[in-house]
Amino acid sequence: MLKTLVIFYSFEGNTKFIAQTIAEKLGADILELKPEEEIKTKGFMKYVWGGSQVVMGKMPKLKPFDKDPQDYDLLIIGTPVWAWTYTPPLNTFFNTTKIVGKKIALFSCHGGQNAKTFEKMEKALQGNEIIARQDFFEPLRDKEGNRKKVLSWIDAIINQNLP
Ligand SMILES: Cc1cc2nc3c(=O)[nH]c(=O)nc-3n(C[C@H](O)[C@H](O)[C@H](O)COP(=O)(O)O)c2cc1C
Repeated sequence: MLKTLVIFYSFEGNTKFIAQTIAEKLGADILELKPEEEIKTKGFMKYVWGGSQVVMGKMPKLKPFDKDPQDYDLLIIGTPVWAWTYTPPLNTFFNTTKIVGKKIALFSCHGGQNAKTFEKMEKALQGNEIIARQDFFEPLRDKEGNRKKVLSWIDAIINQNLP
């Protein structure tokens, strides 16, 4: 069995729901990236604030964490899509954490457009093998449907990787 770490950031719970479903299914460890300062705005201003963080290439300081990706064989990394790409906490993580020689599966949650998210994550994760990608449309709006979708995605990953 591949030793697996599920790494994610979630602002409003969609990505967390998918990450927890994966971790439970695999009995995997989980690493939730938490910025020291989280967005305080709700409503429309959250898009302005979050979107500008992405566009400015911000790397918000993360709360300390005790998992090292290099201790694992498989990393499953998830993010919401913000401004057509991955979120600032992932930007911090990719730039401050050693991740090389790993098998990696990527997932995203979005409101309709996955856009450049995986392409840009792959660029940030050069030196690793990206073995799978899957996006989810607002999973909390259809928890049961998306639970099934993520579990069959995980089955495909496991079958691909186990002898
Ligand atoms: C700041 C911000 C920017 C967003 N930008 C996009 C986008 O470019 N494309 C898209 O499809 N959804 C966009 N969304 C919607 C989220 O990706 C979507 O609601 C996702 O499921 C949220 O995941 P979470 O609940 O884990 O935070 C954006 C949401 C926020 C808050």
